[in-house]
Amino acid sequence: MKWIKYVFTVIGLSFITLLARADEGMWLPLFLQQLNEKQMKTMGMKITAKDIYNINSGSLKDAIVSFGGFCTGEVISSKGLVLTNHHCGFDAVQNHSTLEHNYIRDGFWAKNYGEEIPNPGLFVTFIVRIDDVSKQVLNGVNATMSESERQSLVDKNIAQLRKDVKRESYQDSFIRAFFDGNQYYLFVTETYKDVRLVGAPPSAIGNFGKDTDNWMWPRHTGDFSMFRIYAGKDNKPADYSPDNVPYVPKKSLSISLDGMNEGDFTMVFGFPGRTTQYLHSAAVEQIMKVNDPAKIGIREKALSVIDGFMRKDEQIKIQYAAKYAGIQNAYKKWQGEVLGLTSTNALAKKLAYEALFQQRVNANPQWKTQYGDLLQNLGSLYAELKPYGYARDYYTEIASKIELLTIAGWINSLKTAYDKDGEKGYQARLKQVKEQLGGLYEEYNGTVDQQLFATLMKMYVNDQEEIYQSPMLREKLKVAGNDFSELASGLYNSVDLDDKTATMAMLEKPSSEVLAYYKNNAAIRLYTDMVATYSNIVSKKLNEIQTGINKLNRTYMQAQMEVMKERKFYPDANSTLRVTYGNVKGYNPRDAVKYDFYTYLDGVMDKYKPGDYEFDVPEKLRQLYTSKDYGQYGKNGKMPVCFIAMNHTTGGNSGSPALDAYGNLVGLNFDRVWEGTMSDINYDPSICRNIMVDIRYVLFIVDKYAGAGHLVQEMKLVHPKKK
Ligand code: ARG
Ligand code: GLU
Repeated sequence: MKWIKYVFTVIGLSFITLLARADEGMWLPLFLQQLNEKQMKTMGMKITAKDIYNINSGSLKDAIVSFGGFCTGEVISSKGLVLTNHHCGFDAVQNHSTLEHNYIRDGFWAKNYGEEIPNPGLFVTFIVRIDDVSKQVLNGVNATMSESERQSLVDKNIAQLRKDVKRESYQDSFIRAFFDGNQYYLFVTETYKDVRLVGAPPSAIGNFGKDTDNWMWPRHTGDFSMFRIYAGKDNKPADYSPDNVPYVPKKSLSISLDGMNEGDFTMVFGFPGRTTQYLHSAAVEQIMKVNDPAKIGIREKALSVIDGFMRKDEQIKIQYAAKYAGIQNAYKKWQGEVLGLTSTNALAKKLAYEALFQQRVNANPQWKTQYGDLLQNLGSLYAELKPYGYARDYYTEIASKIELLTIAGWINSLKTAYDKDGEKGYQARLKQVKEQLGGLYEEYNGTVDQQLFATLMKMYVNDQEEIYQSPMLREKLKVAGNDFSELASGLYNSVDLDDKTATMAMLEKPSSEVLAYYKNNAAIRLYTDMVATYSNIVSKKLNEIQTGINKLNRTYMQAQMEVMKERKFYPDANSTLRVTYGNVKGYNPRDAVKYDFYTYLDGVMDKYKPGDYEFDVPEKLRQLYTSKDYGQYGKNGKMPVCFIAMNHTTGGNSGSPALDAYGNLVGLNFDRVWEGTMSDINYDPSICRNIMVDIRYVLFIVDKYAGAGHLVQEMKLVHPKKK
């Protein structure tokens, strides 16, 4: 009973913080007027909710795009110029880089429209309108339905609504679930598919500090790149054509050169990917104690294997750089998440919140019947989920790091396609497989992969119960005398899947030959055995439990909204357009340490390590620093670089504009501080901060460093503080 006393002490102390945290929330733009405008104004906003979202005339939302579906971008000129992060545009930069034109290393700037480079596959999407369609989507749904009956009715209603939706022929629409399926919203969209690369700084600026500084404050990264949207002659979306013209937007952002002071109002407008703010305490506990640690442990081993090779071999260093950064990004984030959940007593707060919820439910007879055992039932289901969740993380983390298994999976998909749709299915799949393999082999080294196999399979076998393991793998291990290196070399020597030339040549042969050749391939057989074990022992049960959890979560969400009335609810992120707002502010990461809210070019020079992979500084930038040649972008003889604020952001908010009280662009969101990455689960205003690059640094790099001042000419620069 001790925890109950503790829980009630926490309630007593922080009742206010439990229910109303001013800076928390990723809000739907269509409800700003109703839910947020008043508070936003109190916090310093000088414009209205209508200036942000208005479907009848151009508003700020018309300058915001989903960039390729994975990041955010914003239109910053009347000629369709789009700003996003360097790490969002990186794929495009990498694709156009060669040894002679190394845009990754040297940067790239188009001097005119003609030099802007098309990017097949890249698109940007505007949101034309958002409608609440909850009633229509849930029409006919009732409490006695099974989850699958419910889902098929929902799917049917969605399909009908999308058919009937009022939209122009060049527009599209999608419908998403919010609040765990209690509400549904329809988005009418406009997607432009001719998006050309305009410019990017060298990596030494755009990704300054790399993995060491990733997720960290103080930060000194100029994480930006620029693109341009092209449209048909009618300004409507059009497939790529050399005849397309720069898109004329309904709205483009004005840019403020005045900078931010502590306490200034900011908002971030973009497409946050996924958060889970309303989880049961048991789920939070599992993330902290089971899932994050498992994933961190596996990635730690994988990173140390790859790092060992990258340090010794220049070729491997280039090949594995992007992969390493990808693995490292979540690895570091999860560590910050566990740390932050611990340091802010997230679990105790959840328990306190649940205790209060339960108390209120118990006091109301109707709620008691409806919701009385909800928390307990959810808790039991999470307890059931625990071993399967762990097994899922083990399987997915390990299998996805061993690329021999990825190759085996792709080759195996040829057989699956053939069995299903014959020669036609095979040929269609073959085309994709060849493309995927081509990309994989570019960044693949068999020795590295074999070492990853040996290291990670040891974890697969030693860290989980036997029933979750592939019997074939255990058998092979026995044959190899329980030696994982033996096991790995035996396997890698017996197959030629990791030989690019042999495999690509094989795939040119007729399907019958290909299928026969790979029929008894040891890696493919191992792969299928691992998949079968996972699917039979783990995923079936996992999905069943998860379906139960989803259903209860839907009810729990509804119940929270009814019972915890004083709390302002916002839907979890789901890659739809949101607004978040908060003031510019430093923070105290730990005892006796206080972080300021701004960084300057002086800090770049402090970190400068000549020739270093992460902290080298280009000569031209050093010169500009020495001569203090900052033009209109500097302030009091200093060049601002990054700043932080209390905006509630997550992955997908990369490239989102940071706007000032007037809606002017002042920065570009690209990261969060390490101590506060748990904001996806439990936002805490004391240590959750988003990191933005100051727009003045962006323009300084474009103009003074890259000599692309003609782009600045396109933009509208303002000085709101001098008004
Ligand atoms: N942490 C930032 C975001 O999730 C930036 C990632 C890119 N930079 C890097 N060094 N990996 O996703
Ligand atoms: N870097 C992240 C992204 O790519 C944004 C940082 C975050 O997770 O908040 O979207």
